[in-house]
Amino acid sequence: MCGIVGFTGRQQAAPILLDGLEKLEYRGYDSAGIAVAQEGAAGYGGAARGAQSGSRQTAGAARPEAQGERPEGSGAGSTEPSIEIVKAKGRLKVLREMTDDGRSVPGTCGIGHTRWATHGEPSVVNSHPHYAKNKRVAVVHNGIIENYQEIRDRLTKEGFSFLSETDTESVAHLLDKYYAGNPIEAISKVMFRVRGSYALGILFADRPGEIYAVRKDSPLIVGRSDQGNFIASDVPAILKYTRDVCFIPNLEIVKLTAAEIHFYNVDQEEVEETFSAINWDTEAAEKGGFAHFMLKEIYEQPKAVRDTVSPRISEGHVNLEELGMSREELAKVSRIQMVACGSAYHVCMTAKYMVEQTARVPVDVDLASEFRYRNPVMEKDTLVVVVSQSGETADSLAALREAKKLGYRVLGIVNVVGSSIAREADSVFYTWAGPEISVATTKAYSTQLAAVYLLAIGLGRAKGVIGEAAEKEMTAELLRLPEKIERILEEKERIQWFANKFSHSKDIFFIGRGLDYASSLEGSLKLKEISYIHSEAYAAGELKHGTISLIEDGILVVGVATQKSLFEKLISNMVEVKSRGAYVLGVTSYGNYSMEDVANYTIYVPKTMECFAASLTVVPLQLLAYYVALGKGLDVDKPRNLAKSVTVE
Ligand code: G6P
Repeated sequence: MCGIVGFTGRQQAAPILLDGLEKLEYRGYDSAGIAVAQEGAAGYGGAARGAQSGSRQTAGAARPEAQGERPEGSGAGSTEPSIEIVKAKGRLKVLREMTDDGRSVPGTCGIGHTRWATHGEPSVVNSHPHYAKNKRVAVVHNGIIENYQEIRDRLTKEGFSFLSETDTESVAHLLDKYYAGNPIEAISKVMFRVRGSYALGILFADRPGEIYAVRKDSPLIVGRSDQGNFIASDVPAILKYTRDVCFIPNLEIVKLTAAEIHFYNVDQEEVEETFSAINWDTEAAEKGGFAHFMLKEIYEQPKAVRDTVSPRISEGHVNLEELGMSREELAKVSRIQMVACGSAYHVCMTAKYMVEQTARVPVDVDLASEFRYRNPVMEKDTLVVVVSQSGETADSLAALREAKKLGYRVLGIVNVVGSSIAREADSVFYTWAGPEISVATTKAYSTQLAAVYLLAIGLGRAKGVIGEAAEKEMTAELLRLPEKIERILEEKERIQWFANKFSHSKDIFFIGRGLDYASSLEGSLKLKEISYIHSEAYAAGELKHGTISLIEDGILVVGVATQKSLFEKLISNMVEVKSRGAYVLGVTSYGNYSMEDVANYTIYVPKTMECFAASLTVVPLQLLAYYVALGKGLDVDKPRNLAKSVTVE
């Protein structure tokens, strides 16, 4: 869960690297570092820069034995090519300060990294770039080298000494061991030795101006421009400089110079790859006037849902052609197995209620981390649906591979084009949410719900469970959802006011039944991940089996009730908690005014068909979480201990 960026070209690299890393901080932000190639006498010519605090050293002709000092007579002013490395613990701004926004590390070719610790605590020594003892190689890495201990033990016996506790450093030493003048050969040898996942950016000190990159099961892209060429973990990192990108295929190696990009397979044969244009606005990848990405992304939901829904509906019919499945194949689906992590799992919970009602197809829902190891028993015509914003979540990807290995057809509902899940699934249904930066997902979640509705309607039609009239009614309502979300957003002040009163809660509970239970799960997750308030969601009928013992005076219980047949039941559950001292917030649709007889405070959402209610109730719950966290003065977009894209197990 780290971010990588690299640049080689005609401009100074360090400021570009820092810019890129800033856009990747959502992938990890406990430390950061850059490595910039120095061409020796032919290079920048030895601007004298004193050692700074933190960790700054020149790998190359004379790397110091310990971190923290920049040695005399190396790097700047040296006649040998070398690599200058600067690393800092903490947020990127520390590295910015240490390097005077990159100005004090001249050079036109470099790599950078923002880290999310997995092996070894967040510290300067464990932060990337890592480098080999003989000062020839610097490496940035995203992923996990599973057999690093074995490699480390072997290399230690051979006389290599390790500075850090990371898995990555073993790659730096291995590269060094295998490097005999041909970087592609050395990288390919390393690929045969390491197990696990990796996206690597590599500099060889004797090849200033060249960046090497390789990936296996961790994302990495290449970008090209007139000013130079880039690598990055994700598009926003380089969007300011180029829109011309290639999603590096799994197990391919790339060589970049200022003017050229070459791709190689693991057998070191050169291969051709195609580039595509990214048509997101630069704006779209930035905050655009909002205080936080999360709020911006909440506000982008009407557009994101519209973009996801409208291209798939024509004249009242759902068009699922992009799945590459005929109507007959869809009709044959006898069961759906949904798999995902986090919020995407809650989308699957919603899908269970929605798809079962609309298409009468049984739906099983599993957490990807459970599914991948439980040796599932599934019917022959089961369609496995993997839902993922990033398309890179390690457990979801592993679940996909497990399902494929067992011979099932896999459909990916994915937001990131060209991501691993999108590539490996048999069919892909993209959600068009655009880049989502805030760790807590909002707009991607809403588009995943929309995708599930489209799938349910398409399946229902293919199976003859719903007729044309019902399809038309449902698609018309789907197209109205964005406008209804907009109406909820217009009332955000009421939610903000309410949230401020509960910013200092210790526990907050959410209850619901049926579809509203699925929404409660998401509301509770949203709240706990960004406000650090303990929260649980319960199927309201379960309260009496334990949870009700936790209700005390003044505790906030959020009751979500949009399903007519379950409304009275939920109201009874709300009475139960209120009579035990709870303060009750009701979330329901306009018209259900009897909610006010029980709830201390009520938030109404526009009326919609019951099967789509989750798309509306989630919006006030997102806003509630946002404003509670804001009220506590927390860093909403980067909650502690969490990362946006969980690419390791
Ligand atoms: C992380 C994110 C969640 C997300 C989950 C699954 O935990 O913080 O917001 O729901 O991963 O991610 P995916 O990219 O597979 O949807």
